[in-house]
Amino acid sequence: MADEKNAAEVPAPANAGGTAEVPEGEAPKPPIENAETAKPRSAHQPAPEKPNPPAAEQPPAPAAPPPAAPTTAATAPDAAPAVPSPGKAALEAEAVAGATAAGVSVTPPAPEPSAPVTPEPPAKYEYILLRHRDIPDLHKLEVYRQHGGYEAFKKVVTTMTPQQVVDEIKASGLRGRGGAGFPTGLKWSFLTKDSFPRYLVCNSDESEPGTFKDREIMEKNPHQFFEGMMIAAYAAQANVAYNYLRGEFWEVAAKLDAILDELRREGLLGHNLFGTSYALDMHNHLGAGAYICGEESALLESLEGKLGQPRLKPPFPADKGLYQKPTVVNNTETLTNVPMILARGAAWYKTIGTEKSPGPKIFCLSGHVKRPGNYELPLGTTFRHLIYELGGGVPSGKTVKAILTAGASSTVLASNDALLDTAMDYESLAAKGGALGSASIIVLDETVDMAWLMLKTTRFFKHESCGKCTPCREGTYWMLNILERLNKGDAVKADVDLLQTVASQVAGKCLCPLGEFAVTPVLSSLAKFRADFDGHTQDGKPAPAKPAAAARPAARPAAARKAEPTPAGD
Ligand SMILES: Cc1cc2nc3c(=O)[nH]c(=O)nc-3n(C[C@H](O)[C@H](O)[C@H](O)COP(=O)(O)O)c2cc1C
Ligand code: SF4
Repeated sequence: MADEKNAAEVPAPANAGGTAEVPEGEAPKPPIENAETAKPRSAHQPAPEKPNPPAAEQPPAPAAPPPAAPTTAATAPDAAPAVPSPGKAALEAEAVAGATAAGVSVTPPAPEPSAPVTPEPPAKYEYILLRHRDIPDLHKLEVYRQHGGYEAFKKVVTTMTPQQVVDEIKASGLRGRGGAGFPTGLKWSFLTKDSFPRYLVCNSDESEPGTFKDREIMEKNPHQFFEGMMIAAYAAQANVAYNYLRGEFWEVAAKLDAILDELRREGLLGHNLFGTSYALDMHNHLGAGAYICGEESALLESLEGKLGQPRLKPPFPADKGLYQKPTVVNNTETLTNVPMILARGAAWYKTIGTEKSPGPKIFCLSGHVKRPGNYELPLGTTFRHLIYELGGGVPSGKTVKAILTAGASSTVLASNDALLDTAMDYESLAAKGGALGSASIIVLDETVDMAWLMLKTTRFFKHESCGKCTPCREGTYWMLNILERLNKGDAVKADVDLLQTVASQVAGKCLCPLGEFAVTPVLSSLAKFRADFDGHTQDGKPAPAKPAAAARPAARPAAARKAEPTPAGD
């Protein structure tokens, strides 16, 4: 048990923008499962999968409405008719409000008259993470407690040792939802023995383009999230825990601060919790809005009030994390799983999802789909089910050209029937050469030009590169330079080769994964959609007519050059 003195001794950190990583590089590599056979093993699937048309040939037929309307959206070019359920209008308004607050411009979806409506409601899905969709007002403490809230925390503090909690999470097979899918219980067990104080840090930075799940959790189901943090802190024997949010989440942070005050007043935070010697306090901390501060070691730097740049690893946070003390860093969604596991047991949890990727996952669906938003589903659900049955398919019957599975930093996966039938879990996507990441599924229809898309992603990564290491800093600059010229029609095919060379030179040479994130979409889209890039080059299309320029000799005689005045500063 941690010394309760620590809670009082450690101040809230200075308010600065800026995470470290448990040795994810040392994660045991799970055997690759056959993507076609990896199916969720749970009855939590909202509706049975239906035979679907080959995406490339037939317009998608939305068969069933989603288990709940999305609450945050990226783009909604057009939409299916309203599903005849009572709360639909309110939920749609909420989706628009959420997306607008997130700085995303959303046009309320217009009905698409020709699309069919399925009158049958979907099979009941019991939400585990987005429980506020089943239980109104769950963000209120009294409502949360009426539904068993904070009982799991009380149980662990009063009847379990920290090691027993770690063992239960290990047995559940919970894997980190922040991107890498690292086993959570194993991460907790890595904390350096007999070294105190220790810290629990939650990564609520959520800056990956296309990711908007943690925000919904914190806004709508904050108590389950905080209870997860509390249980994790107890398991880590930490007396102080921090929730690090991206700077743009200032409104969310203000509401969460009020909740922490309430928890202190109610005796759920503080000294002698439930009559034991255990003490815990928690703080929310806003960053300054930098993507790199989602990387755990940069997050820890920022939390300490320093410039948010990644640390060299090792040491890993489990050994030297916040203030150089053993620290657990976990994602918001990861921790929101924890109370339910402790309340219902690891064996129950493992009935959901697949054997190697157990549990529910929130899939952030955006791009060219009729019903973008957050969908909680068992890991192992297929793309086809998410995109066509729940997401309503692609507007105007267009086909899916490619899918980004992990936001902007994804491998661009070319869409075909085999991909659409792939299970969305960690192993199946690795087998396809991609990654599940934070499950930010961006659907790209046949109209998307990959050279244009790569301009967007590269501009983002060039802007977000922290500049600490040369390959990432310079490589993203030069990739952007080439892509800008390409998109303006000022490049030749050799420039596309140059883009490939620069991206390949960056790969594998960076201090942190951001450099890899920047080149992964570029290299994979070049491999699968090279024609999109070549089509922009002057030798890939008829050269645009240019105004006649004054002829200038390629080389002039040395004598003529010497006779010219030298410009100042040369
Ligand atoms: C550039 C970069 C950005 C990241 N952004 C986030 C983020 O916004 N949220 C998050 O939870 N993890 C993010 N991660 C992963 C974290 O470093 C870390 O692996 C994660 O928070 C661990 O939590 P988990 O084990 O619960 O997944 C990012 C990693 C990198 C390299
Ligand atoms: S890879 Fe990019 S973001 Fe990461 S440390 Fe290097 S410069 Fe910074």
